[in-house]
Amino acid sequence: MALSPQWLDELRARITLSSVVMRTTKLQRAGREWKACCPFHDEKTPSFYVNDQKGFYHCFGCQAHGDVIRWMTDQRGLPFMDAVKELASEAGMEVPAPDPRAARQAEKRASLVDVTTAAQQWFVETMQSPAGEKARAYLESRGITAAMSREFGFGYAPETKQALKDALKGFDERMLVDAGLRVEVEGKAPYDRFRDRLMLPIQDQRGRVIGFGGRILEKREGAPKYLNSPDTQLFDKGRTLYNLHRAAPASRQSGRIIIVEGYMDVIALAQAGIAEAVAPMGTALTELQIELLWRHVETPVLCFDGDAAGQRAAMKAVERALPLLRPSHSLRFVRLPEGLDPDDLVRDRGKAAMAALLDDSESLLDTLWRTERDAVPLRSPEDKAGLKARLLAHVDTIADQDIRALYRRELLDRFSAFAFPRKEWKGGGDGRRFGNNRDASAGRPQVARRDRTASRDALFAATIAGLARHPALVDRHHHALARLAQIDPKAAPAIDFLMENTESLERDGESPILLPDGLVAPPDETRFAFLREGTDPQSARDALAEAVSLLVERPALDAALAAATARFETDPEGAFAEQQRLLRRKREFDGRIGRMASERSAPAAPIDGSTRGAPATHDETTG
Ligand code: UTP
Ligand code: MN
Repeated sequence: MALSPQWLDELRARITLSSVVMRTTKLQRAGREWKACCPFHDEKTPSFYVNDQKGFYHCFGCQAHGDVIRWMTDQRGLPFMDAVKELASEAGMEVPAPDPRAARQAEKRASLVDVTTAAQQWFVETMQSPAGEKARAYLESRGITAAMSREFGFGYAPETKQALKDALKGFDERMLVDAGLRVEVEGKAPYDRFRDRLMLPIQDQRGRVIGFGGRILEKREGAPKYLNSPDTQLFDKGRTLYNLHRAAPASRQSGRIIIVEGYMDVIALAQAGIAEAVAPMGTALTELQIELLWRHVETPVLCFDGDAAGQRAAMKAVERALPLLRPSHSLRFVRLPEGLDPDDLVRDRGKAAMAALLDDSESLLDTLWRTERDAVPLRSPEDKAGLKARLLAHVDTIADQDIRALYRRELLDRFSAFAFPRKEWKGGGDGRRFGNNRDASAGRPQVARRDRTASRDALFAATIAGLARHPALVDRHHHALARLAQIDPKAAPAIDFLMENTESLERDGESPILLPDGLVAPPDETRFAFLREGTDPQSARDALAEAVSLLVERPALDAALAAATARFETDPEGAFAEQQRLLRRKREFDGRIGRMASERSAPAAPIDGSTRGAPATHDETTG
């Protein structure tokens, strides 16, 4: 069976190469690429690279090279058709049936491009003709330069109902209808779809014209402002982004892609020197469009109006993205001043105003948190429980286990801090207190430090025990654990033991690993939710993921703190601010570690902290 090059291109476009390679080969980030020890030859240092933008892997050692299909045949050993079928089912694509119809359809798509290309040329010519005077005047009134007009291919569709048909005589009626340029209504003669409109070509990623948007020139009763091509064999609104074929290369310079609502916003930004903007086709961003953007940048920035409708749309995008999140990939959000779209903004306030908003974008997590926090005032326990339930419902939609665990932790922390604000400790914040009362307080920080270390050690021992029970997680957290072993030599033997023992297991082996005596102190099983009998396996796995990341990040914080302290001589002010920030984070962290190590099956500790029993946290008001 012959698969058309277009179909294979589409298949490659829909699959992220690294996500496939990652299943059998451990990848490490290397800038915009991924690297690994080459799976095709034996080596100790990585010379195998995966580039998702280009869709290729390459080994500088053995010259192994190919795309995702080649990977499946050469590395996984599948026959070509099996490789294609497996990838197609993953991409949600149908493998074309082995009949000549498929080939005919591919041919037809190719010839439809001839129709849209010819139409585009004619729209441009018409705008230059006397009939296009109105359209040119309109562009001028909007301040669009001639150069921009050429670059974006503005044209004009005249008023009459048959002009396009007459101009494109070389194509038969059927093709014009199939290309979306003529409208066919039962019982009537077909007529031109776009009449008396300013025309904008919509191009695919290769720059081929696949559809059009037509803007009305002056308000007309009952006529929509924009008329777009319908979905055709060429044009699929849900997987097209206006201007992506220009924004993608531009994003390689700027490292970002901006998503705005309208065609004219994209063009106004380009005219202002921001070339990396795209727009969906008048609808909310789809999953496919998000995946498409992630092939170019890790965190595309979405702009929404500051009004209520704009903010609802932002939240919709958040909800759509949550299930898709994967490590390092997210979205960011810009809230525009109410009633101004990016076009108005750059015109009224200049490019710098837009740049400032972009620099000040909000993370997906912050957007989610702020929106839910502000949705309903918290007046009662029921309101608080409602907020918590909404947050957890969002968390549950996240498919990636690590990200889900991290979101749960972060959102619950924010929830607790917001719903049950702690009373600040008001005494001597200037640090002189300890000097004046040296005798009275001398012992306390020491005790606190001992408790903190003790709860960290307990958490470590429990985490090792937990991982031994869920050996599949050792593999999942391989990188984090390797880092922990590296920064904390005390932790290394236990981690090495787990890794050696999981590597010798069958790939899907879930039988627990037996830990030899003396490797770690036996943990108190009742203290940790993830070790307790009766905890459901999913929560146990989530809690373990959280424990691993806590253990890894904590020493990294110490290192950052040491670095900030070392910088005091050269940059006292900067170092001081950084040190204070890090100290705050460290206190937060120790609080979390303490809380994890003191989770009990008994009811939760009282919230006001006055009778808090957990030893690890009792120092926090003086720390
Ligand atoms: P806007 O009305 O915000 O677009 O609609 P805009 O680009 O700012 O329009 P101008 O500045 O008035 O020229 C956003 C997008 O929604 C779709 C179009 O894709 C438009 O770019 N839309 C809007 C339609 O498809 N039909 C409409 O009637 C209106
Ligand atoms: Mn506008």
